[in-house]
Order: sequence, then structure tokens, then C-alpha cells
Amino acid sequence: MSLAILSALAEEQQGIFEQLQQPRRVLHAGREFGMGIWHGQTVVLALSRIGKVAAATTATALIEKFGVQRIVFTGVAGGVGEGVQVGDVVVASGFVQHDMDAAPLFPTFEVPLYGRARFDCDSALTAMLLEAARAGVSSAGGLFSLHQRAPQVHCGLVASGDRFVSAATEAQRLQAALRAGGFDALAVEMEGAAVAQVCHDYGIPFAVVRTISDRADDTAHVDFPTFVSTVASRYAQAILTEFVQR
Ligand code: ADE
Repeated sequence: MSLAILSALAEEQQGIFEQLQQPRRVLHAGREFGMGIWHGQTVVLALSRIGKVAAATTATALIEKFGVQRIVFTGVAGGVGEGVQVGDVVVASGFVQHDMDAAPLFPTFEVPLYGRARFDCDSALTAMLLEAARAGVSSAGGLFSLHQRAPQVHCGLVASGDRFVSAATEAQRLQAALRAGGFDALAVEMEGAAVAQVCHDYGIPFAVVRTISDRADDTAHVDFPTFVSTVASRYAQAILTEFVQR
């Protein structure tokens, strides 16, 4: 059963390729895929780059070309839920596309002809990832001086869209619109809902862990690159190491 570890950016899974046994790199669809054995499991590492279309292409390639049977996405996100702080970790229970709006033909956020706005993550894989996140954060948490408090692990809905949310007013507007549609998001990012939809189409179990790099507010554009280059990969490694060993 091969497992795909998917991220948007190299920094979000840095260090894992170097730990693979029998490592190989393959170029496909303009992307580099890494393959090998990690802690006894066959894994395929992939970098989607940013945005929903890039993520959907990569997820499709992972399934069609590399035959993966499970996909775990690891990366960073902007915290929009109450109490979701920089350095916390969010494990997604499901996804909604905050920029999907075919109203009045379909309800706002509903993906046309799917009859749904929300795509749930696989519950068993998500439960394992949540356990791994709790263990990984407590083993790696001490490394990070960003926090005034110990990093917390949250589990809930994540909203994806082709927008980097970088103003507090925009984050509030987005949250209010989602709430009006019956959705309460913990975080925003730019890929998860696309991968969730592809995995739904193919019947592939999918789970996501995101470290909060910024609060999707007026300093998000400063906090995001700092966090990605300094902390993101260490969290990813700590959590995913726990995950593959389970
Ligand atoms: N990923 C990390 N931070 C984000 C933000 N503020 N908006 C969208 N995607 C993000």
C-alpha cells in the first residue's frame, strides 16, 4: 500500500527525501516525484506548487501514474478560527472551497453537480494523523520559541481557495460568508479542497495536517515566508515520522 506525502512547497517536506531508503526521483507532468522506503513504508513524495489546479493535477498524477493508495497532505495554513495561533497545528476533518460560487444556479460554496460543498477527509487516516500530530508536536514543540504557550492541535474544517488571505478584514469577511453558509473554518489554504475532491472522485483515502504560519491578517505576507523557511519542515518531519511508524 503506497502512501503519498504531498505538499505545495519544498520547504514543507524538506528533509524527508534525504531519509528515504532506495531513493529515486522521477519527472512527470513538469513536477519532480521522489520515491523510496521510509520507516519500512513505500512512499511517494510530491510537490504540487501553489493553488487548487496545481494540487489537483499532482493528486491525479499520484493516483493514475504512481498508483498511490493513500494521500497525506502536509503544509502550512493561515489560522482564521478562534484560538488558532501561529505555531498551532490543524488536522482537517473536511474541506470547503471558499471561492466556489455558482449562485444562483447552485448554493454558494456547493461544487456544481456534486450536490455538496464539503468534502470529508478519511476518518481512519485522519484519526491516525491526529494522534501523530499530538505526539509530533509534543516531541518537537520545545524546539520552537515562537509561542507564548505550548502549540495546540486542532481538528476541524479547512477552507481552500485561490487567494492568499492577507488582510484581517478579508479573513473576517470570508469567515462571515462561510458561517452564513453553515461552515466554520479553522484555517485557510490554497490546495486541500482540490485534493479532497480528486480523492473523492477516485475513492482514495486522504488526510491533511497544516501548521499555522500566519493569522491570514495584515502581517500574513511577512509571517508566512519566515515560518515556512524556519519551522514548517521540522513540524512536518516530526508529525509524519510519528504517522508512518503507526
Ligand atoms: N497558507 C498559509 N497562509 C495562508 C493564507 N494567509 N492564505 C492562504 N493560504 C495560506
